[in-house]
Amino acid sequence: MEVTGFLRRSNIVVVAGKGGVGKTTAAAALASLAADAGLDVLVVALDDASGLAALFGYEGQLGYDEVVVRQPNGPDGNPTAVDGSPASAGVPGRVRARVLTSDAALLEYLGTHGLGRFAGRLVRTGALDVVATAIPGIREVLILGKVRQLEEAGAADLIILDAPATGHALRFLSSSGGLADAARGGPLRAQADQVVAMLTDPARCQVVLVTIPEETPVNEAVETAFRLEDEVGVALGPVIVNCCYPLLAHLDEDPARAAVAAGLPPLPPGVADSLARAAAFRRARQELQLAQRARLAERLPLEELELPYLFTAELGATELGRLVSELATGIAALP
Ligand SMILES: Nc1ncnc2c1ncn2[C@@H]1O[C@H](COP(=O)(O)OP(=O)(O)OP(=O)(O)O)[C@@H](O)[C@H]1O
Ligand SMILES: [Mg+2]
Repeated sequence: MEVTGFLRRSNIVVVAGKGGVGKTTAAAALASLAADAGLDVLVVALDDASGLAALFGYEGQLGYDEVVVRQPNGPDGNPTAVDGSPASAGVPGRVRARVLTSDAALLEYLGTHGLGRFAGRLVRTGALDVVATAIPGIREVLILGKVRQLEEAGAADLIILDAPATGHALRFLSSSGGLADAARGGPLRAQADQVVAMLTDPARCQVVLVTIPEETPVNEAVETAFRLEDEVGVALGPVIVNCCYPLLAHLDEDPARAAVAAGLPPLPPGVADSLARAAAFRRARQELQLAQRARLAERLPLEELELPYLFTAELGATELGRLVSELATGIAALP
């Protein structure tokens, strides 16, 4: 499949998955890929987004106001789309990021509805929390309402939402429906209805689940996928299988003999043992990975995109570049 076509399937991509599986990393890789393809991208994070900033090599702090984390010119100084298509409505190749919090979204909502002074008092007295707790779903509706507003205003060619970890993500995405059912009328009901309309339109919104090839994350991805379809009615894009070890052959070979066969001097004492232990670990890891990927493929009828495990302590702009090219290869191979 052609990359731009893939990225243009929906206006919003919600990246969801179990805690720590690489949602933020995948969101950044998708954003970067889309920017490479000449789109103007906005990444919306919901909590502390320090990992996101680091992936783009952006040194400032991310906050409610958007900032440009990747300039329109790519790392090679090339300002145009990789496939040459002038597809962008905004600034091609740019990535902006912002953090949406429900408090800030509520304040903005009240402000734009002529209630700015009231909002200020709510904050000062701590009443904001009371309101948000008293109306289940209001925080989520406000945040998604803000995302919807950005999407409808054409704020970017593609909005990528770095969603909270799974349990929260389900509540996050389903509570607008709950609120729409519970609220009889009024502006909040209208807002919730509009959010539901956005979530259930596959041309506007899709969820990309991220998982890693281990048992619990695979179980959770499968369960979440079905629940998202049933309870939210949102379209599902491909699953990103992150942290895949590249498969190595020859792990069964005896290191000492392999060294001799390769014409190397005899291995120093202890080295053959260490190599054999490392090979055993890697073999076990590969077997686990193959078994879990087979389970995932069997239980979840979705396309898969694989991202490699990168052997570095911290991921930055260079590693992001590698993940982006892996994503591009994976997308190109999709039917
Ligand atoms: N492919 C990879 N190779 C190596 N390390 C990775 C890879 N993907 C993610 N990581 C690392 O794993 C950790 C978790 O990744 P990330 O922050 O993207 O996950 P997350 O799902 O957003 O986590 P959270 O649920 O806390 O928001 C980070 O330290 C990140 O650098
Ligand atoms: Mg994250």
